[in-house]
Amino acid sequence: MLHLLNHSLGTHVVTHLRDRTTKPATFRTLAYQISLLLAFESTRDLATRETTVETPLESHLGRVLSQPIVVVPIFRAGISMVQPFTDLLPDVSVGYIGLERDEETAVARSYYCKLPPLGTKRVLILDPMLATGGSAVRAIEVVIDQGAALKDLTLVCIVCAPEGVRAVESLDPGIKIYAAALDRELNSRKYILPGLGDFGDRLYGT
Ligand code: PRP
Ligand code: URA
Repeated sequence: MLHLLNHSLGTHVVTHLRDRTTKPATFRTLAYQISLLLAFESTRDLATRETTVETPLESHLGRVLSQPIVVVPIFRAGISMVQPFTDLLPDVSVGYIGLERDEETAVARSYYCKLPPLGTKRVLILDPMLATGGSAVRAIEVVIDQGAALKDLTLVCIVCAPEGVRAVESLDPGIKIYAAALDRELNSRKYILPGLGDFGDRLYGT
């Protein structure tokens, strides 16, 4: 199920990310800012448990996070989303999956995987672009294979295309997808339109 960030600041940041004149240094700052907003939005439903604390005045029955969290960025572009998530979330471990789309076929090839134990944890997969969905589907299959439960899985993207959302939902319509923008379509080279171009290239100036 797709949840879109509905926030004026988010729209502002994505517009500047799209701008072809935005240089890599600014692009990285904007990627941090939009990911921080997405970190806030995509963790609204984290599990909590009751706990009692003493305020300077009296006892208070509050709530704290109760489920361990793992964030899994997809190399390369997903790396840009790690810092905002680890800045916001108190206890989090980080796993990595390396995937790269073939320039001709747009099919994702896996070249790296290092994940902590995932069973019973909340898993947030981070990848700024959801285009055909090939990379996201591959990453979801990997984390499920490593013990993550579908109900504990969230995919967090900055820009997504309808094709990618459909591909992820074909695995399970209930999978949670958070994105800052849902774009129109893919072009013949499987780039998102209007999109922002190649996120990894713009991030790293390659
Ligand atoms: C980009 C992006 C996603 C993928 C999305 O990565 O970061 O991982 O494309 O496309 P898809 O939905 O069609 O699979 P890319 O393969 O360009 O690698 P990079 O991050 O190393 O640039
Ligand atoms: N990956 C990107 O970085 N951009 C797109 O538009 C599609 C895939």
